[in-house]
Amino acid sequence: MSSKISLTRYLVEQQRIDGHIPSELRLLLEVVARACKSISQAVNKGALGGVLGTAGSENVQGEVQKKLDIIANEVLIEANEWGGHLAAMASEEMDSIYVVPNRYPKGEYLLLFDPLDGSSNIDVNVSIGTIFSVLKKGNDNPTMVEPVSEKDFLQRGSQQVAAGYCVYGPQTTLVLTVGDGVAMFTLDREQGSFVLTQENVQIPADTKEFAINMSNMRHWDEPVKRYIDECLQGKEGPRAKDFNMRWVASMVADVHRILTRGGVFMYPWDKREPNKPGKLRLMYEANPMSWLVEQAAGAATNGRQRILDIQPTSLHERVSVILGSKNEVERVTAYHAKV
Ligand code: AHG
Ligand code: MN
Ligand code: MN
Repeated sequence: MSSKISLTRYLVEQQRIDGHIPSELRLLLEVVARACKSISQAVNKGALGGVLGTAGSENVQGEVQKKLDIIANEVLIEANEWGGHLAAMASEEMDSIYVVPNRYPKGEYLLLFDPLDGSSNIDVNVSIGTIFSVLKKGNDNPTMVEPVSEKDFLQRGSQQVAAGYCVYGPQTTLVLTVGDGVAMFTLDREQGSFVLTQENVQIPADTKEFAINMSNMRHWDEPVKRYIDECLQGKEGPRAKDFNMRWVASMVADVHRILTRGGVFMYPWDKREPNKPGKLRLMYEANPMSWLVEQAAGAATNGRQRILDIQPTSLHERVSVILGSKNEVERVTAYHAKV
């Protein structure tokens, strides 16, 4: 790339060329990016910044909160609450929605986030990230005049107006879609800005790489067992090729690899908690990642249905996730249809 294009310039040009990023949304995305820069700083300091370890509390899903889960959540709220672009926010780390306080002007957007994804990797210095999804209040009911409530958030993933993540790894990379393909921006620490480093990201339709937590194999459903078993048989099996396996245990890092070189990622339903559809959360993990993957020519289903078509019924609901290279996702989904 001859001249560097900053995230700011990219968003201004998107707004100018297509007119489909209103200035309020552009501001929102800039603010989210700024918050990610600040989280990236905290992550980088690690033990020196006193940010490692647990906070001694639990979130609504009964998971132990790490200090960085709380710090990242606060950074995102403080950065976003005063700008006038949002009506409310929702987060993995907050039981209920956070309505923008009355002392600030309110906008029409809703921001959802997983402030720190891959929490189990924080203390061991492995890639982690922030995932975000943007909806518009009243998308399903434009005449709605009541104060914002959780109901406003319960929109299908296909209604998202922007989605992305920032991965804090060897590089800090922000990955974004506003419905016009996927773009990647690398943080230039000297300049303090995100610089466009890849546009029009495309996931190859075929792959030889899968990502799943194999330790759960005995709990899986038949279609997932069949798919993985066939991959493991390699050249000698029905797939007639050898597969490689990667599992970072940070969805951001696993999805980033898939957007970069292809692959299939699965966190499927399993028998450990049969009443829950899976581990990952629909609204601030599966939906934004599924939209990014689809925008990069991949696919995302829960085994039976396109994730973006699922009507949410609660803020923190979970979902089975199969996403990545299109032909592999279609294969796993077809195996589900046969049982
Ligand atoms: P979070 O840290 O936000 O709770 O998310 C962790 C998720 C996801 O990032 C990852 O794919 C998965 O949990 C890893 O789970 P296992 O530890 O069961 O492999
Ligand atoms: Mn997560
Ligand atoms: Mn998290």
